[in-house]
Amino acid sequence: MKIHRLGKNGPELPALGLGCMGMSPMRPQPGRRDEDAESVATIRAALDAGVRMVNTGDFYGMGHNELLLREALRGRRDQAFLSVKFGMMIAPNGRPLGLDVGPRAAKNFCSYSLQRLDTDVIDLYQPGRIPTSTPIEDTVGAIADLIAEGKVRHLGLSEVTGEQLRRAHAVHPVTAVEVELSLAGRAAEGDLLPVARELGVGVVAYSVAAQGLLTGAIQGPLPAHDARNWTPRFQGEALAKNLHIVAQFTAFAASRGWTPTQLAAAWVLAQGEDIVALVGMSSRERIQENLAAADIELSSDDLAALDRMFSPGAIVGDRYAPQVLEMWRS
Ligand SMILES: NC(=O)c1ccc[n+]([C@@H]2O[C@H](COP(=O)([O-])OP(=O)(O)OC[C@H]3O[C@@H](n4cnc5c(N)ncnc54)[C@H](OP(=O)(O)O)[C@@H]3O)[C@@H](O)[C@H]2O)c1
Repeated sequence: MKIHRLGKNGPELPALGLGCMGMSPMRPQPGRRDEDAESVATIRAALDAGVRMVNTGDFYGMGHNELLLREALRGRRDQAFLSVKFGMMIAPNGRPLGLDVGPRAAKNFCSYSLQRLDTDVIDLYQPGRIPTSTPIEDTVGAIADLIAEGKVRHLGLSEVTGEQLRRAHAVHPVTAVEVELSLAGRAAEGDLLPVARELGVGVVAYSVAAQGLLTGAIQGPLPAHDARNWTPRFQGEALAKNLHIVAQFTAFAASRGWTPTQLAAAWVLAQGEDIVALVGMSSRERIQENLAAADIELSSDDLAALDRMFSPGAIVGDRYAPQVLEMWRS
């Protein structure tokens, strides 16, 4: 697979990574043996197909996701570049409890992740978000200690502002920022990406298919149990408008011989050789299609057509519910 460098001094990695979040339930669900077996097989098949970055969070299924990775990486830990987020707190019933990314929490969460993942070291470690109540310097200082102790290889951040990135980078070099980047979510282009590029920090792009919106697989309102119903861009009129654009996007992709998911991922990779793009998938049947996106070269005409299709305001509705954003801020 095409190789990208994660920032100026970061590691070289295959340009597409595997997002594992969708493999774990939001609430505890004992007895999911069939799904778990497919998830483990998917992680292994992705590594077989050339993926190295596997992306998780200790809060994805409250440790469940890390246990899947432990199983999948048994005997082949060195083939994966493990990216782990921490700090989002969840009650046993699945209710979000806000963030704890202070220095003690960072070290504590890391101990548990190392144990669950059955590994000596995490390749890229990052707080899920930074609330205003926690100085980013304190969190970064704790991860710098973990790096000095050999428990973590690289410092990462997730969904920070350009200013937070500067403050963090002044304490310890940041290898990568994880941020939503897709044709339907380009907010990072305004503030964060210019600062990341100035500082030589790599970019891990997530939700490259806009949480599945750009796959073309969503045709109408989602089933009631689907967590994306909380997200404004998947609700009511906004969803109807967005699906109208997705229909044009799907037709455009087909006219070039690509699937919409391939085009969505290829567009993100075309935004820079400092980007590793995560594709979220939870079954083996997706792998061949999605990884082929790394071979697509978009022409300047393709890129211009996509810019027109997804002009500012074309996709309606925020990417997170307001109460979620508020919880992460405080
Ligand atoms: N830092 C952060 O705050 C943050 C936030 C969100 C996510 N992430 C990371 O980014 C990863 C990806 O994000 P995401 O899951 O939100 O979004 P995504 O990659 O844009 O979309 C994933 C969705 O698309 C579906 N899909 C994938 N390939 C498909 C195909 N070829 N045809 C039809 N449907 C397809 C998946 O279905 P299946 O699951 O059924 O395969 C899943 O529902 C996550 O796993 C996580 O690691 C990070």
